[in-house]
Amino acid sequence: PETGCLSIVVLGASGDLAKKKTFPALYNLYRQGFLRKNEVHIFGYARTNITDDELRDRLRGYLPQGTGDAEYVSSFLQLIKYVSGSYDDPEGFQALDNAISEHEISKNSTEGSSRRLFYLALPPSVYPQVCKMIKNYSMNRSDLGGWTRIVVEKPFGRDLASAEELSSQIGELFEEPQIYRIDHYLGKELVQNLLVLRFANRFFLPLWNRDNIANIQIVFREDFGTEGRGGYFDQYGIIRDIIQNHLLQVLCLVAMEKPVSLKPEHIRDEKVKVLQSVVPIQDEEVVLGQYDGYKDDPTVPDISNTPTFATMILRIHNERWEGVPFILKAGKALNSRKAEIRVQFKSVPGDIFKCEKQGRNEFVIRLQPSEAMYMKLTVKKPGLEMSTVQSELDLSYRQRYQGLVIPEAYERLILDTIKGDQQHFVRRDELRAAWEIFTPILHRIDKGEYKSLPYKPGSRGPAEADELLERAGYVQTHGYIWIPPTL
Ligand code: BG6
Repeated sequence: PETGCLSIVVLGASGDLAKKKTFPALYNLYRQGFLRKNEVHIFGYARTNITDDELRDRLRGYLPQGTGDAEYVSSFLQLIKYVSGSYDDPEGFQALDNAISEHEISKNSTEGSSRRLFYLALPPSVYPQVCKMIKNYSMNRSDLGGWTRIVVEKPFGRDLASAEELSSQIGELFEEPQIYRIDHYLGKELVQNLLVLRFANRFFLPLWNRDNIANIQIVFREDFGTEGRGGYFDQYGIIRDIIQNHLLQVLCLVAMEKPVSLKPEHIRDEKVKVLQSVVPIQDEEVVLGQYDGYKDDPTVPDISNTPTFATMILRIHNERWEGVPFILKAGKALNSRKAEIRVQFKSVPGDIFKCEKQGRNEFVIRLQPSEAMYMKLTVKKPGLEMSTVQSELDLSYRQRYQGLVIPEAYERLILDTIKGDQQHFVRRDELRAAWEIFTPILHRIDKGEYKSLPYKPGSRGPAEADELLERAGYVQTHGYIWIPPTL
């Protein structure tokens, strides 16, 4: 492993993302020994003129408060220095460079490296100028070696053209191996498990195709609205916020062919192929919704048609998936909070038990909460009678891996950027292919050609979405619910 100086710079240090996600993830890495005190320095950069201690005080409240943490929290905060400056000002970035260099020189007088990780916890509109400043004034010291890496997060544009423009602006300054585009769903435990599951288990190999699978759902539900983020959300809507990125990434991993090896480029090559095989989305395979009360937010215009809910069917034109609908569903202010992948198998041919009405085999991967995988299957109802009933083979993580703490997505992803592993990051051509799928329909929604149907907060979303599901061939099981086991 690489050793020597590592500087992590969080730009936008006092913003929401930094406080809620980036710094807590860095803390957890520190706490677990992945960031060593004598190697790592963390820098916060933002416009506000505050002192190191003021930044530390602002961050403290977002870090764990347990008794075991107190000591770690204070030593972690001591690693953080603050530099203020604007995002297009050479002076600020020179000052940042000086602050980083100072520590690199004193630690590395004879050996070691200059590793610089810039985490842009900033709105994408400033990515190009910030990248330019980094490139001109804050790159790693060539005399010490090492590297410079840039971490960015969505929204990467609003459509194909704007995303491509952003990509080429950044691409002029940094090479692809230096750019880490985060999609935090790729950092989730069960998303990371998908390739293992599919390609390391004989069970799944022969079944994972159009001959056996009837339909696949990838579902994201939240039981709260856009509280406090209405202004941002209204510019984007649920398709750009969740489906074009998080759910589509999951779809890639569910649908892709086996990569040549586990090398990040091999994996990403296969993901791109899936995206390129998606055919244009059909009008009648889309249902949009907006929950009642969404427009009460003062930052949302009264005439907004922005969807807070969408069900849409993607079809993959290849040998494995022809004819199998991939149903992507995402919604805010629904009846529950969960994310899952539901693979529904076809009915058993020549069924002698007449059990199709009870339900079909389903393989469900629960991404959150209560991480689990379970196979819904038909068994003999225990007892004297000979009848059938739905049951499940259940691998619930909390029960099976007792005491294990599943790491936060951001923790893993930051660790990957330090290690230089781009497997769980979105490559430029992947991003392009993702936008190609959704841009036509997004433009039409923006023009008002699609109406978002109203739905009640706390409901399942518009009834039309369930009808679409049924039309797509999903057979709902009545009278069976999977209940995560309690310990
Ligand atoms: C973000 C979206 O990318 O993901 C939010 O912008 C959403 O709208 C969030 O709430 C969901 O993430 P998670 O990890 O809680 O499922």
